[in-house]
Amino acid sequence: MKASEQNLTDWLREAHAMEEHAERMLTGAAARLGHCPRLQERLQLHACESRQQGRLLRECIERRGGSVPWAMPAVALAEPVAQCASGLRVSDAGAEAVLSVYAFKHLEIGSYRMLQSGAHQVGDTQTQQVCERILAQERAMADWLFGQIPAITQEFLQHADGPAETAHQAAP
Ligand SMILES: [Fe+2]
Repeated sequence: MKASEQNLTDWLREAHAMEEHAERMLTGAAARLGHCPRLQERLQLHACESRQQGRLLRECIERRGGSVPWAMPAVALAEPVAQCASGLRVSDAGAEAVLSVYAFKHLEIGSYRMLQSGAHQVGDTQTQQVCERILAQERAMADWLFGQIPAITQEFLQHADGPAETAHQAAP
C-alpha cells in the first residue's frame, strides 16, 4: 500500500477515536445541563450524530482494508485531540461547557476538511463523500452553538443568581 493511502487510513482511525471521545464528552456535558434544556437536548442529539459518524468512519476504514484499533495510534491527529481534551473541565456545567464543545467542534471541522482533501487526493470518492457529510454536520453544530452563546450565557447567569434575584433584576 502506498504511504499516502496508509496515511489516510491512519487519519480515519484517529478520527474514529475522536468521535468516540466526542460522544463521551457530549453525553457527559448534557448530563450536567439539566438547567439548560434546549442545550441539553441539542448535545444529546449531537452525541447520537457522533455515534453515527463513528460508524460511518469504521465502514470507510474497513472498506480500505484497515481495522479500528482499541488504542488510538500516537500519530498526526492524536496530539491535537489529546491537547483539546485535556483542556475540558469535567465540572463545566454552563457557558464554559459550550466553549469546550465549540472548541472541539472546530478541531473536528479542521480534521474532516483534511480528511476530505486527503480522500480526494488518493481518489477514494466514497470516503470523501462521507467526510463531506460529517463536515456539514460539524459545521451545523458549531454554527448552532455560536448562535446560542448569548442566550445560553444569559440563562446561565440567571440560574446562578437564583429566582429571587432574577425577579429583582426584572423589576423596574
Ligand atoms: Fe463528530
